[in-house]
Amino acid sequence: MHESSAHSDAPRHGTRRSLTVLPVGQGGAPEPCLQRCLDGQPEALAARGCAWLRASLAGGPDPSLLEDGRCPQGLAVAAEVSALHEQPAVVVSMLTPDDETPADRQAGELTQLRAENEALADEVLRNYEQLSLIFDFTQRIANITHVEQLETLLLQRIGDLLRTGRIRVHSADAPARVFDVQNGTFEMDRVPRPVERVAWLNEVGTSTNVRVRHDADGQAMAGVLQRLDDRRDVILVERSHEDQEFNAGDTQILEALLTLGGQILANNELHQRLRQMSIEATRALVSAIDKKDHYTSGHSERVGFLARLTGVQLGLHEDELELLEWAGLLHDVGKIGVPEEILCKPGRLTDEEFEIVKKHPEMGYEILKPISDFKHILDGVLHHHENPDGSGYPYGLVGDQIPLFAGVLHVVDVFDALTSRRSYRDAFTIEKALGIINSEAGTKLNAEFVSAFLRALAAFRENEPGMFASMYPVSRATSEVAS
Ligand SMILES: [Fe+2]
Repeated sequence: MHESSAHSDAPRHGTRRSLTVLPVGQGGAPEPCLQRCLDGQPEALAARGCAWLRASLAGGPDPSLLEDGRCPQGLAVAAEVSALHEQPAVVVSMLTPDDETPADRQAGELTQLRAENEALADEVLRNYEQLSLIFDFTQRIANITHVEQLETLLLQRIGDLLRTGRIRVHSADAPARVFDVQNGTFEMDRVPRPVERVAWLNEVGTSTNVRVRHDADGQAMAGVLQRLDDRRDVILVERSHEDQEFNAGDTQILEALLTLGGQILANNELHQRLRQMSIEATRALVSAIDKKDHYTSGHSERVGFLARLTGVQLGLHEDELELLEWAGLLHDVGKIGVPEEILCKPGRLTDEEFEIVKKHPEMGYEILKPISDFKHILDGVLHHHENPDGSGYPYGLVGDQIPLFAGVLHVVDVFDALTSRRSYRDAFTIEKALGIINSEAGTKLNAEFVSAFLRALAAFRENEPGMFASMYPVSRATSEVAS
């Protein structure tokens, strides 16, 4: 069992290159090779898991077991099957003390040169592939806004670059998870880890470097993914003794991805937290405005919610749906500028009072205009009382002059207003309200949006009856009074 840090290299025992010939298929290990390769400790062959040498002796060298052109012990730099005195043999070029003949040396140098060229070409290709994957990772994270998606992409890139299908994630405050690289999914880690391996993982969790360990359970490489609030996940990649050994390139890749990924994840988590704070603050503000008039409590939340469902029926993209919901939530924010005695006045408004109420779309526009994130919802807020026949306000726009968000919000707004109780009338039933909306399709309301809204409401009512009933309880819509 041994461990190496990210920056340690395997020891190099020799100073020169030589040619060594290993007979194939004759059983047993040639003593000189073992002495050279294992620094005079033949018993170390099994303990150090020299799969390459075992394979070479059994039937021929396995190039896939070479790392950077070197055997796992860092001595053999090339190997090829050849014939020696008409007998099959493996010709190995090695780093070894100076004990070969000039002819050996020349032949060895040629073999060495060819192997180095091939290894160099492989290394360039591998580096190019790795750079491509890392570049692709940096490109794709720019378009990701969800922490979970970022974590998935990061672990998939680690899996791709380190050629492993499963990655274990150990968190201090959650059960260990296993990530399936191909499917991009997590599952609980139900395989108990050996006590020593767990202790080592705990140790890695307090470290800053990627570390590698070889023990009875195989090879392990682990490093810390630093999250927000000092949360640290330990990312563990495992290989068997028979797999290619982790090398310095592997540890550098893991270290680079964990450092880059950790910073991006922490930034993203911070961004999400701030965004959540903004959402909650905005909802609190909107709720306070709605409560100025207790008859309209929850109105903006409902309009935002139903506007989104209508947008789904219209085939809007998720980004547009989110904006439409925001527009619904904030469409009446300008009412903050309407005096409470007018907003909460029992009974019908005078013409003068109604003129003041009619200013709320423009006031809402002015309130939201300085906030850059809301620039795409301004038109929806400003024009949500425009009618396709030109009878609306504030500008009397007609038909297609009315922006999409405004047209959708108008339909939903009217429905919610009709099904809400007023000081001067009870709430209309759902059916009565829908009848009015249908009758105004094409005149006061956009016919296409009315149709989409009716489909959205029917689907919502059928699929979420409990939620529908809580939003539009029977008590709100039982008694029916003419407007
Ligand atoms: Fe309004």
